[in-house]
Formats: sequence, structure tokens, C-alpha cells
Amino acid sequence: MTDLRGRDFLRNADLSPLEYRGIMDTAHALKRGEFKGQKPLEGKTLAMIFEKPSLRTRTTFDVAMFQLGGHSVNLTNAEIGLGTREPIRDVALNLERWVDGIMARVFLHSTLEELAKHSSKPVINGLSDYLHPVQLLADFQTIEEHFSSMKGLPVTYIGDGNNMANSFIEMALLTGINFTIATPRGYEPNAAVLLEALHQGATIKITNDPIAAARGAKVLYTDVWVSMGQEQEASERRKIRDFAGFQVNPEMLELIDSDGIFLHCLPAHYGEEVVEAATLHPKSKVFDQAENRLHAQKALLYHVLRD
Ligand code: CP
Ligand code: NVA
Repeated sequence: MTDLRGRDFLRNADLSPLEYRGIMDTAHALKRGEFKGQKPLEGKTLAMIFEKPSLRTRTTFDVAMFQLGGHSVNLTNAEIGLGTREPIRDVALNLERWVDGIMARVFLHSTLEELAKHSSKPVINGLSDYLHPVQLLADFQTIEEHFSSMKGLPVTYIGDGNNMANSFIEMALLTGINFTIATPRGYEPNAAVLLEALHQGATIKITNDPIAAARGAKVLYTDVWVSMGQEQEASERRKIRDFAGFQVNPEMLELIDSDGIFLHCLPAHYGEEVVEAATLHPKSKVFDQAENRLHAQKALLYHVLRD
């Protein structure tokens, strides 16, 4: 039985393939309703810290705790001032006295590492500038709903080499997919994450050609070109120019396999990385993917927070 009790989850690479499999099996079981009526996290509390906005992460962690019999406390940065009103260390040393786990969405990944260093209770990454690991759990639950084997599955990520791309690279190693990342020149993913995954045997190709990358893919994925915290007007304008040709639209969805699926972590910036006709296209599974945030995070919370 997968046992992640008390463990931090800051990145997908924190998991062994077996631990990852355990979370996925629980996520599928939860979605099938197999835990109905059970309250495995009764009496447990999750503190949720948000330095950035959120719809999916906030709602699904909150609902997940409730459905597992526990409770969540939402803390916005305007209230707690992580590192400004008081040191990150002190926030961790207070929260650990009251709650059973901390989920945080932060600007700097180092904030999560600092929280984890000082908190004796587990810290879960709800997105940083570097990684978005809980999103990838839902994404692969969705992929597994359509494809029986991950080994060698052609998966393409088109767009910015951002937190999503970095986490995808870690998942490529865990799952054995045949992963292609297409970015404009200069927007490649984090080199250290990439080199580590390649070194450990992941199958990953980096290209600047979105059309070739999309052709024949079983899964096509994109994310915003301008992530939260990067919205300065000048760089936003420059990015939109640099990403010409990287938009996912119905024509691009014609290029992927006839059984292929399209995913986007959302929120979408329509007219930039994607058009509405792509998220509403029959190949699009983006709203199943959003639903799976709930099941996948319930599975993670179950394994990390249960007694
Ligand atoms: N995909 C995702 O994390 O959505 P939110 O920013 O709404 O939480
Ligand atoms: N790359 C995006 C993901 C949002 C879920 C961001 O960081 O804003």
C-alpha cells in the first residue's frame, strides 16, 4: 500500500513510480465512487495559502478535504504576508501547531522549500514559478482514461517552457511517455530539470517546430504564454509576437491522431495560446481534466494526511 504519510509534495520527482501508481489507482477508485461514505481524513485540517489567484486549485483542495471528512482554512497573502508581515519560517512554525498539512501557491519556489524546511507537517505545492505538480496528477489521470499504456505514448506540449512544461518533464520520467516539447527559440524549459530527466532515461525531444510536434500526437497539451506574475505589458506583447504559430486551434487538432486528445490546465487566454473552438472541440478533454483535479488531489491528500 502506498504510504506517503507526512511527506512533502513539492514536485512530481518526489514520487517513485510505485508511489505515483498508488496515487493514480486511488484517484481512479475515488472517481468510481469506491470511497463513498468513508471519512478517512476526519478531524484533519489543511491550511491553504494563496499568493496568486486560483479557481481550480482553491476549489478542488477545499472540496477534497470536505469530501474526505476533513476541513480546510484559506489564507490569502494579503492576510498573512508571507515573508513580509512575518518570516516564512514563523508562518510554518505557527501553522504546524494547528493544522495537519499546508498547501501553498507561491511566486517563488524557494518559498515552498522554506515552508517545508521549517514545518513538521507536510507541504504540498499548489503551483510555483517553477513547477505545478498537482496539476500533472490530474492530467495523467485524464490521459489514463483514454490510453491504456503510457510507455512510448506520443505526448506533445506546445507553448512556453514554464512551470507546466517543467513538471511535465518530471512526469515523462515517471511514466515513460514519448514526450515532445515545442517552444519558440529562447522559451525552452528549465535546463536542469530537462538534463536530470534525460540523464535518468526519460524520452524527451525539444523542438521549435509546433506543426511537426503536433502531427500524430495522442495527447496535445498547451498552457498560457504569459503565466501569473509575468504580466508586465511589454514582455506580454513581446511574447505574443514570439509565439506566433504556436496557437492550438481546430486546424492544429486535425494534425493529431484521430483518437488523440487535447488538454489545457486552464485558465485559457483565448486568442493567444488557444481559441475557444479548440477547448470546445470533440477532441478536447479540458473539462474532464479540470474535474480530475478533485479526484487526483483527494488521492494525494488521502495518502499524505491519513493516520
Ligand atoms: N489549473 C489551475 O491551477 O487553475 P487555477 O489557477 O484556477 O487554480
Ligand atoms: N503557467 C500557468 C499555469 C496556471 C495554472 C501560470 O503559472 O500562470
